[in-house]
Amino acid sequence: MDLKKFFQDQNKKNQIKILTCGSVDDGKSTLLGRLLYDSQNVFLDQMNQAKAESEKYGTQGKELDLALLIDGLQAEREQGITIDVAYRFFETPKCKFIIADTPGHEQYTRNMATGASNSDAAIILIDAQKGVLEQTKRHSFIVNLLGIKHVVVAINKMDLVKYDQNNFEKIVNEYKNFTKNFNFFSTNYIPLSALKGANVFSISENTKWYTGLSLIETLENIHIQDENVKNAFSMPVQWVNRSSSEFRGYSGTITSGKISKGDLITTALSNYQTSIKNIYGPKGELNVAFTNQSVTLTLKDELDISRGDTILTKDNKAIIKADKFAAHIVWMEQESMLPERNYIFRFNNTYINGQITDLVHSINVNSYEEIATKRLNLNDIAYCKIALNKMHSITSYKNNHQLGSFVIIDPYNNKTIGAGMIDHALRRSSNISWHEMSINKETRSKQNAQQPCVIWFTGLSGSGKSTIANILEQKLYTINKRTYLLDGDNVRHGLNKDLGFTDTDRVENIRRVAEVSKLMADAGLITLVSFISPFRSERQMAKELFQLGEFFEVFVSTSLEECEKRDPKGLYKKARAGELKNFTGIDSTYESPENPDLTLDTKKSSAEQLADQIINFLKDKKIV
Ligand code: ADX
Repeated sequence: MDLKKFFQDQNKKNQIKILTCGSVDDGKSTLLGRLLYDSQNVFLDQMNQAKAESEKYGTQGKELDLALLIDGLQAEREQGITIDVAYRFFETPKCKFIIADTPGHEQYTRNMATGASNSDAAIILIDAQKGVLEQTKRHSFIVNLLGIKHVVVAINKMDLVKYDQNNFEKIVNEYKNFTKNFNFFSTNYIPLSALKGANVFSISENTKWYTGLSLIETLENIHIQDENVKNAFSMPVQWVNRSSSEFRGYSGTITSGKISKGDLITTALSNYQTSIKNIYGPKGELNVAFTNQSVTLTLKDELDISRGDTILTKDNKAIIKADKFAAHIVWMEQESMLPERNYIFRFNNTYINGQITDLVHSINVNSYEEIATKRLNLNDIAYCKIALNKMHSITSYKNNHQLGSFVIIDPYNNKTIGAGMIDHALRRSSNISWHEMSINKETRSKQNAQQPCVIWFTGLSGSGKSTIANILEQKLYTINKRTYLLDGDNVRHGLNKDLGFTDTDRVENIRRVAEVSKLMADAGLITLVSFISPFRSERQMAKELFQLGEFFEVFVSTSLEECEKRDPKGLYKKARAGELKNFTGIDSTYESPENPDLTLDTKKSSAEQLADQIINFLKDKKIV
């Protein structure tokens, strides 16, 4: 073998992308160092051999700077450079490896999901002394969600447990048990000592009981196949190329299938139909192009396709236009995720604003239980529904990892705060979308110089809600706050005049006023709501429309006897006489709040004092 052939062979090698999972303690950096170091020795041996041969035959070749990799790795660490993901390269005579190296600190999950969604295989490191930890489970769960098919469980630090077979098998069984419902295509278990190099490149004398392959042999034998190659053609438009008045080309990387000149195509968002005129690769015209190739396509008809649209062949039914979808997400931010909040969703190169509208459930990674939840904390995994502010080409992660995954970005600091995998598009309301206005709650609140909120009064008819709310509004007015008071009796004269007092009507009554109060808060107002609102579940529903710290439930706790004694409108009397049906407290239920933000006692204090009590409460909450 001469040097030229040696380098040619290098280019033909299988390329395998690997994700490493484990913390610093599990020996991840030791393993990485070991892989880089040993592979260079193997590679050097091979190259020197080839070089010797080529010198014999007089062929010239170039030296590789092999020290560069390790130097770079060390320099980064020493300088404390924090990177989400660094890609490390090494090769063996058979394969090229790309390792997504994610620094192992607490934000690990975030880096892992950001950098690894297109890995072919994952190495999950387990410390032989510690066994399967919650973190191991969390990482494995994410690896499964990411659709990585090949998993190598490296049970490391075997030297510290005297290469004990029982210890190894105990961990293997535990791992097998909790991944039994996962979609891994292959799972290999290897007893390892990254430090001593045991079973990394060759089988160690110390594990004679182990009958499997070394780590490198296992990785070399993983059969990688890009599923997308088989699928129907798709290519998101990343760039519209107008190099001359006649030339309009659409550039991008093919995300699935292949495309030939003359193929009939359609576009996911704009729904055009035409055919391919020409295909240009980096080296000129092509007759056909395949998955992962970067190309520029020209079309038979002159159409105006925008960046972010997706070009598809007509047989591609897996990609549809939608603005709502269900997805698994991994939350990667210290600050918790709240439904209805505005986030940026990044798909490939397209950024779209949207909200997580429903948290269907979060997932306990220890038991795989689905847990009802209202918000997500750091590293939580959940299934949820997402509404985008405009249409996008949506496909499941299962169908296409590139198109079916997204990253969630905080619009205020551009930080990546989550990652997700689309389960399926929700077509139901694809005809309605939410418009993102340039002037929003934040800007209006700023202009009003106040924090909008809803003060929701609940209590029996005649309990004093409206009297207190009225005084409170006057007090807020005098301190220059912008307010609005929504009162049951008044709203029932207009917006809700079609509603009576059956349970069903009261539910609808509260649903509407909750939505109105949401608009009022969005308008930047401090909104006072004074409705009996007799049912817990509707008050809860109202509360859930708002962010934390925006909705305060105030219970005006005047008893039925007291309300009936006062009877300001004479309605209790009528109800007792049977002239008024479904009267709250008489023949219609009132469910007292279990956990109000404030309870007001009208027997002990005057309406004026109670209004002051609310002002103090709002001062505490930094609203006034
Ligand atoms: S709610 O139960 O649907 O929240 P809401 O606050 O809008 O009630 O309206 C209550 C007001 O409607 C009462 O203060 C009272 O003046 C009037 N009213 C008329 N009929 C009834 C009734 N059957 N039950 C309660 N309030 C009634």
